[in-house]
Amino acid sequence: MSSGLRRASRHQEEKDDDVPQWIPGLGQDKPKPRTLGTSFFGYVPDAFVEKTPYLPSEQSADALKKEATVEPVKAAEQVEASLEQEIVQPDSIERNGQRDMDASSDEGVVTEEVIVPRRVGQASAEPWDVHSPIDIEDGLGSAQNRLLIKGGRVVNDDMMQDADVYIEDGIIKQVGTNLHTPGGTRVIEAKGHLVMPGGIDTHTHMQMPFMGTQAIDDFYTGTRAALAGGTTMIMDFALPQRGESLVEAFHRWRTWADPKVCCDYALHVGVTWWSDKVAEEMEELTNELGVNSFKMFMAYKDTWQLCDEDLLQSFKRCRELGALAQVHAENGDAIKENTKKLLDLGITGPEGHELSRPEEVEAEATNRACVLANQVGCPLYICKITSKLAATALGQNLRRGTLVWGETIAAALGTDGSHYYNPCWQHAAGHVMSPPLRNDPKTPSFLMELLDVGDLQTTGTDNCTFSASQKALGKDDFTKIPNGVNGVEDRMSVIWEKGVVSGKMDPCRFVAVTSTNAAKIFNIYPKKGRIAAGSDADIVVWNPHATRVISAKTHHQAVDFNIFEGMEVHGIAEYVVCHGRVVVEEGEVRANSGMGKYVPTPVFNPHVYGRLEERERANTPCKVERAPYDGPVAQLNGQGHMQEGGIPSQQDAFYTRGPTRSGGVNLHDSSFHVSGAQVNDKSPKRPSVKVNNPPGGRSSGSFW
Ligand code: URP
Ligand code: ZN
Repeated sequence: MSSGLRRASRHQEEKDDDVPQWIPGLGQDKPKPRTLGTSFFGYVPDAFVEKTPYLPSEQSADALKKEATVEPVKAAEQVEASLEQEIVQPDSIERNGQRDMDASSDEGVVTEEVIVPRRVGQASAEPWDVHSPIDIEDGLGSAQNRLLIKGGRVVNDDMMQDADVYIEDGIIKQVGTNLHTPGGTRVIEAKGHLVMPGGIDTHTHMQMPFMGTQAIDDFYTGTRAALAGGTTMIMDFALPQRGESLVEAFHRWRTWADPKVCCDYALHVGVTWWSDKVAEEMEELTNELGVNSFKMFMAYKDTWQLCDEDLLQSFKRCRELGALAQVHAENGDAIKENTKKLLDLGITGPEGHELSRPEEVEAEATNRACVLANQVGCPLYICKITSKLAATALGQNLRRGTLVWGETIAAALGTDGSHYYNPCWQHAAGHVMSPPLRNDPKTPSFLMELLDVGDLQTTGTDNCTFSASQKALGKDDFTKIPNGVNGVEDRMSVIWEKGVVSGKMDPCRFVAVTSTNAAKIFNIYPKKGRIAAGSDADIVVWNPHATRVISAKTHHQAVDFNIFEGMEVHGIAEYVVCHGRVVVEEGEVRANSGMGKYVPTPVFNPHVYGRLEERERANTPCKVERAPYDGPVAQLNGQGHMQEGGIPSQQDAFYTRGPTRSGGVNLHDSSFHVSGAQVNDKSPKRPSVKVNNPPGGRSSGSFW
């Protein structure tokens, strides 16, 4: 069943679970949010045992040794004890000395799940240079590191429950009702509010040098604005210049970000050129520097664009390293031709930007990236899809079995390309970004529906802001308008308004597309993207009743323009908790620069790579065993002409490819022939025997 169909049927089940409406704006005839139980303990069986990535950042070499000596019997005893008494002392696994929390020293009792982190992939044991909130010298005593969010409705991607959330030292310790908490714990009353995982913006460019200038929102203003809107983590891009070291670019971005970030961040790295050195550096980045995704550009000809051959090499390398390949999918060659034509026609304004990059140019590149990645078995992530055609191309590839994920952005969900035709140059230029917004009012709701059914999985913003005077660098030539728009602050509200208030998705799906799916795809789940014991306390207390009007006059971003200007949105991040600290309350952002931290993303993500091995085993072509040919062989003269011998009949020649290892027809060949013969008429059939334990054992990297 396709993911779309699966999602559609899940949606139906959710509707069947209807409860009285309580989200304002949802009428009797519209889909309603579901609730599962009203007072049950927020426990997700095995969530951590099976899935928690054992991040190098969370362990010292010492802790690694300790992990090896934890006896299974002892762990089992702990689980038993937890069932009997609902009390478990924290497990003995030390996490870099920072996450170790000793609830036994507190008055009151904290229920605790046993968390047995397991190492995933080949992450290095090198400790990461990170700090947790416990490191931060802020004069707060430990009581101030305790927080109870009380009386709200906890929303995860797969369930809602009325429950309290107890937090200590930056980590969620307990989710449930009637919790006993230590004295001095701060309480946030969340009745009538939704308590959701903080948003993860998968795509930002803070202070990026680009098109002769630099994005005006830096890692301070950008991440502060993110928090204001309920986003507690961003994923930015380190983008080297052509010929520049990827590792150096990575360190430069870290130097920019670390002292300024108010929320957590991770880095994707751009493969903006190709060479053996790039391939080597990709290994250093994955094994030592916490990068698990690389972005390749199919546009920006003459600067970052890779040709197909280099794309293939970079995809192959990602596959070898267990990384996720990302692409900016637009055909840069076609754009160059179109641009020339438009400028020759005298079209120099912002509308030329949209006209030079039509939907099919995005769709073609999307399909080509899927095809190329599939040839080398590389999982692929298409960034910032803005068009119906590209999203449809992605869906077709998904349904053909390509391992591909799709991201769209707040801009494409909340507004459209009609603005490029606005008579005010500044207004039109304020919307210039790539791929462009589409001049089709139906596009935003189309993309939102795909997020709901699962053809698209994540939402970023491509936040890359330039003020009016920077945009004016292109006042006489649209190709010189710095590309980029805002979104990091408003993404959550825009998706809530257009997705949930419109009845297209329920709050669980909202959480999936704004946070959880990103955490899964980039291998930081359930540390991020979930409200559960053991997860980072990155939480947004969402008031679905409140409204606000988006405006550049009131937003927290440095840029002087907002593409959502004047939009009234329901849903406000009333409290935002980042690493257990209340950073937004009473309409104020109380965050300091440097409070956030770098989040390493480990490779060989089971959510991404888990299916790959089995798939390759099933699809590897196998040789056809046959008697050697003993007929005449044509003799060629020096010019390649035949001297004697017969010409092989076309009937024999039309089929060349054997069946797959699992005995199936190889779908790379057409199975139809005008003679009525089928391609595999003469192929030996494989007996259908499932080998569960192949001789020599299964290959060591198996995920299951
Ligand atoms: O228009 C955009 N997106 N600017 C930032 C650079 C990029 O394409 O990601
Ligand atoms: Zn971008």
